[in-house]
Amino acid sequence: MLLLHLSDVDEASWAEALRAALGDYRVVRRGDDYDPADVRYIFVWKPQPDAFEGLSRLQAILSLGAGVDALLRHPALPDAPIVRFVDDDLSQRMSDYVVAHVTMHHRLYSRFQADQKARRWSQLYPPAASETTVGIMGMGVLGQDAVRRLQPLGFTLRSWSRTPKSIEGVEGFAGAADFDTFLAGTDILVNLLPLTPETTGILNSETFGKLRRGRLDGGPVIINAARGGHQREADIVKALGDGTLGAASLDVFEVEPLPASSPLWDIENCYITPHIAAISNESSGVRYFTRIIKEHEAGAALSNVVDRSRGY
Ligand code: NDP
Ligand code: OXD
Repeated sequence: MLLLHLSDVDEASWAEALRAALGDYRVVRRGDDYDPADVRYIFVWKPQPDAFEGLSRLQAILSLGAGVDALLRHPALPDAPIVRFVDDDLSQRMSDYVVAHVTMHHRLYSRFQADQKARRWSQLYPPAASETTVGIMGMGVLGQDAVRRLQPLGFTLRSWSRTPKSIEGVEGFAGAADFDTFLAGTDILVNLLPLTPETTGILNSETFGKLRRGRLDGGPVIINAARGGHQREADIVKALGDGTLGAASLDVFEVEPLPASSPLWDIENCYITPHIAAISNESSGVRYFTRIIKEHEAGAALSNVVDRSRGY
């Protein structure tokens, strides 16, 4: 039996689609009449504190989100494998966001927007893409997809990950020892890291101060599409104010929804989106989790299982 426990999304619609895809495999929702001991899989997004009560024969926890930081902090998380969402459709959506914001900053959008408001004709030619270095933190599923989409546009690319990566056309940096060198050559910093104790607050004043200065007009720039816990918002406000950062694109925030009182709303060169960079789309999610369940019921190993010791 599959139990759905999805908050903030249309759970009824997911249930209907999963029932259609899983055939005679039983799919239940909270409030239905079922024995918790019969639940083999629970499909979760923002689970309540009692979400896992009575699930004594759980085989796997299926996470609607690609990021599992909040799930790993659940106070009563059972010791079952966690399968996270990994899907081409999600990667494409995230890369759409990354490409849009990288190209916007590379083409000096903030600068020309300000000129337009001031009715000022001031010719400043943006650099060629190859003269701009995009540094991507996190070279997993999403980071690698972003590289695939940015590469044909001609940007100079570098990456930073926990373990070394060898990706053609991308200068790879790994671990704490390489971090400063990675930052020193980066004009546009893209964050696609998971939120773990090691990466919490990584977008802070010290990091901003180490980015390359003077190469990209209106730079350096940060783009955070991962988690709000990665960023120190007070540091971002300060850095955008004193020119340490030229601009920021933020999809995620320390507190979501971003409070109306946040100073970030008023900063012209801060581009805010409400955690919409990439969504786990229903049809691709149903396809993905149906496959996971069917294959596992047929005896195959689970894929995309979270490593709890690493935290992602
Ligand atoms: P992956 O697990 O596939 O990749 C994570 C990458 O981060 C890996 O390259 C890993 O290194 C690297 N990493 C982890 N810890 C460290 C560290 N301490 N130092 C340096 N590098 C580190 O994750 P995904 O690419 O699938 O997703 C990334 C994040 O994107 C998710 O965790 C989620 O928070 C966020 N997200 C946001 C969405 C949105 O709409 N805003 C939508 C979907 C996801 P290594 O390769 O060596 O293991
Ligand atoms: C995710 C998200 O982690 O939507 O998938 O943030």
